[in-house]
Amino acid sequence: MKTYENYSLLNNNTFGIDVSANYFVEYDSVEELVQLINSDLLKENKFLHIGGGSNLLFVGDYQGVILHSKMKGIDVVETTKDTVVVRAASGEIWDDFVAFCVNKGYGGVENLSLIPGEVGATPIQNIGAYGMEVKDVITKVECVSVETGDIKEFTNKECKFAYRDSVFKRELKGKYIVTNVYYKLKKVGVPQINYGSLEEEMKKYPEVTLSNVRKAVIDIRQRKLPEPKVWGNAGSFYLNPVISKSQYDSLLKEYPELPCYKVSEKEVKVPAGYLIEKCGWKGKSQGNVAVHGSQALVLINKGGADGLDIINLSDSIRQSVREKFQIELTPEVNLIFG
Ligand code: EPU
Repeated sequence: MKTYENYSLLNNNTFGIDVSANYFVEYDSVEELVQLINSDLLKENKFLHIGGGSNLLFVGDYQGVILHSKMKGIDVVETTKDTVVVRAASGEIWDDFVAFCVNKGYGGVENLSLIPGEVGATPIQNIGAYGMEVKDVITKVECVSVETGDIKEFTNKECKFAYRDSVFKRELKGKYIVTNVYYKLKKVGVPQINYGSLEEEMKKYPEVTLSNVRKAVIDIRQRKLPEPKVWGNAGSFYLNPVISKSQYDSLLKEYPELPCYKVSEKEVKVPAGYLIEKCGWKGKSQGNVAVHGSQALVLINKGGADGLDIINLSDSIRQSVREKFQIELTPEVNLIFG
């Protein structure tokens, strides 16, 4: 276990915001985490657990302890005729886990290639892309209670997964730390490429294999999404809003090409990127922050921005979308105030 004081978080958030934390602690095992939970440091200070820092925005220095898992390990723990269960430790880089699965031919996470971040964060916001969500393969999430230090396992059902959502973002927010995640994968993966842009990209490949799907997803992401080391960003800044079918039908009269994804008989999800683009924000700068030119859902730090600069741009965008479409955009990124 390592503890640092007055620690710069610049390399721990993909937005590239230059803030610090009073303490930064990295642990290597469940035992160390339990020891930490029972320590005076955590009893006397507020704390926040982070993963790869790819879905948060620091607004000011953090007056407390930032925790980070360095737990490693990717192991096949169960095998049946058609499936394998792979356990991955929270500190593994998510894309290393995807690469491991694709190399072995295990199917179920290949469309989630190159999503930034670490394994421990995947169940929290039920990461998803190109028609796949991690909820469809997670069987179990092992956690430690921050109140008691006890280990608890959550079944898939107990995680209450939904679009970019789980029990860990709601009723149990801040109450458990994820230590290991169990994923059930097909031994011989069958590629799923029915998501529009992926289906199109796959036409470039002679064969639809898991590794070609991975390559295609990586190519699309690299084309559309800014590289955080070059342009600080946290991927999608907003959730795609869910609106009523009747509101969607009336919007279609003015915007006949407005895409949608069905949520239920009465509701659809519409791409926030489309709404933001139609408000004229795509590629626009406001001081040292901007809306990405290839995907309007992504806000970028052009260099030297702080959290408030991003929030001010976000407020302007939300107001435009509210006025033009009567739709409220909700940030997907976690805003962390000192
Ligand atoms: N669109 C626009 N303008 C834009 C961006 C998108 O008109 O600037 C339209 C596109 O033309 C397309 C539709 O919106 O018809 C969907 O675009 P895209 O496939 O890029 O997906 P998205 O709905 O904008 C979601 C996820 C992404 C994920 C992609 C692919 C959310 C909040 N975002 O974006 O996730 O990569 O689907 O599955 O659900 C992330 O969370 O960081 C992230 C990048």
